[in-house]
Amino acid sequence: MKSKALLLVVLGLWLQSLTASHGGVAAADRGSDFRDIESKFVLRTPEDTVEDTCHLIPGVAESVANCHFNHSGKTFVVIHGWTVTGMYESWIPKLVAALYKREPDSNVIVVDWLLRAQQHYPVSVGYTKLVGNDVARFINWMEDEFNYPLDNVHLLGYSLGAHVAGIAGSLTNKKVSRITGLDPAGPNFEYAEAPSRLSPDDAYFVDVLHTFTRGSPGRSIGIQKPVGHVDIYPNGGTFQPGCNIGEAIRVIAEKGFGDMDQLVKCSHERSVHLFIDSLLNEENPSKAYRCSSKEAFDKGLCLSCRKNRCNNLGYEVHKVRAKRSSKMYLKTRAQMPYKVFHYQVKIHFSGTESYTQTNQLFEISLYGTVAESENIPVTLPEVSTNKTYFFLIYTPVDIGELLLLKLKWKSDSYFGWSDWWSKPSFAIEKIRVKAGETQKKVIFCSRNKVSHLQKGKAAEVFVKCYSRSLNRKSGRQTHTKKNSI
Ligand SMILES: *[C@@H]1O[C@H](CO)[C@@H](O)[C@H](O)[C@H]1NC(C)=O
Ligand SMILES: *[C@@H]1O[C@H](CO)[C@@H](O)[C@H](O)[C@H]1NC(C)=O
Repeated sequence: MKSKALLLVVLGLWLQSLTASHGGVAAADRGSDFRDIESKFVLRTPEDTVEDTCHLIPGVAESVANCHFNHSGKTFVVIHGWTVTGMYESWIPKLVAALYKREPDSNVIVVDWLLRAQQHYPVSVGYTKLVGNDVARFINWMEDEFNYPLDNVHLLGYSLGAHVAGIAGSLTNKKVSRITGLDPAGPNFEYAEAPSRLSPDDAYFVDVLHTFTRGSPGRSIGIQKPVGHVDIYPNGGTFQPGCNIGEAIRVIAEKGFGDMDQLVKCSHERSVHLFIDSLLNEENPSKAYRCSSKEAFDKGLCLSCRKNRCNNLGYEVHKVRAKRSSKMYLKTRAQMPYKVFHYQVKIHFSGTESYTQTNQLFEISLYGTVAESENIPVTLPEVSTNKTYFFLIYTPVDIGELLLLKLKWKSDSYFGWSDWWSKPSFAIEKIRVKAGETQKKVIFCSRNKVSHLQKGKAAEVFVKCYSRSLNRKSGRQTHTKKNSI
């Protein structure tokens, strides 16, 4: 009964909004009657990031003055998503605080559409059009009334809120500067047409983080397809580190069931925390790399920065507007700061005797001018004599310039008779390492011309013999083949 009544309300409001805009006398155009706007616009302050103390009321100019809106500052509009509890989620004050920390003169506005966001999911989906329309009318009013420039407006929407932001952006008189979509909702949107979801047309620049896109398209919590100018899929976009069941059990043991809700949304909400991280850790943004697939990225094949192939994650993203939206990838840590450093390793295994082994575990240690990172594990699905392998390794440690590398071939966890008799080993002369973050390639050479890497034995040491920058603007570009040294 209740949902039926709601549906009627939705339908009624929808028809109302249709007739309003078709007649060319939408409330936004009249500039006087905003009474039907149900969404609330709350100007939070750096001092009070939590409470809704000051409301900006469309049509009421004094409300803007009373809230001390800074007309020459930037404006961030934060839009929440679907909610079970009907309350703001705990990330909102954190994002507000981080925005103010980074941009102290700005205005951070939280859109309160909690009443419409706490319905059955499909009902709330239907409401996104109305809320988007509310937000657009508010923004248009700010422009009409105060001449507030829309290229100072940045909308940030999480989950359903990302589509609200998109719909709002498509309805403003002029394009807003930027929309950031934080894991835009997938169900009901994966196959939706551009006008009813977030899309690149909705702002001058649209950047999107996809953090929880596990499952078949249309059923995954986060939308899978790219919907912005820059779409970043941290850790493949499916699921985030630190969000697994084991972790959940540990947190429940420590903090009790109160955080259950948090765990369910862990990967989804990671999008917000990655963005917060980018605001707080200004000097060291995480880099993401364009790649055809997450599998190719995991092989280390996509660490190039040529022709805008890499970009910063979060606030400091370069506003690259390619014709075709492309997917970008990176690895992260499980906690803030999320940044890791990516390396592609290329090894040629040679030898006079032929060996082929599957699922082999190696450990790589990197030593640099600043620090070292030891025993980074790598599992290769197959290793064979006289074959070349590429793979990705990453570490949270900023090593600096690479100087030395150690490689160890771990013995199988079970006792393998075949290894006992054959003592597999590979001859290695050189290892090439390409650093994503610095775009430098380093060639490591064996100290004795050739190293014999034996399974289960001590690590072999390789020292830097040659390095160069990948991205020399001038000079001969002799390396057209993607994977050549
Ligand atoms: C408003 O923003 C401008 C530009 O960002 C800044 O210079 C000014 O100090 C701010 N005013 C107030 C009252 O915060
Ligand atoms: C690997 O290649 C080298 C050089 O081409 C050759 O001498 C060696 O016999 C090859 N090893 C195997 C196991 O085929």
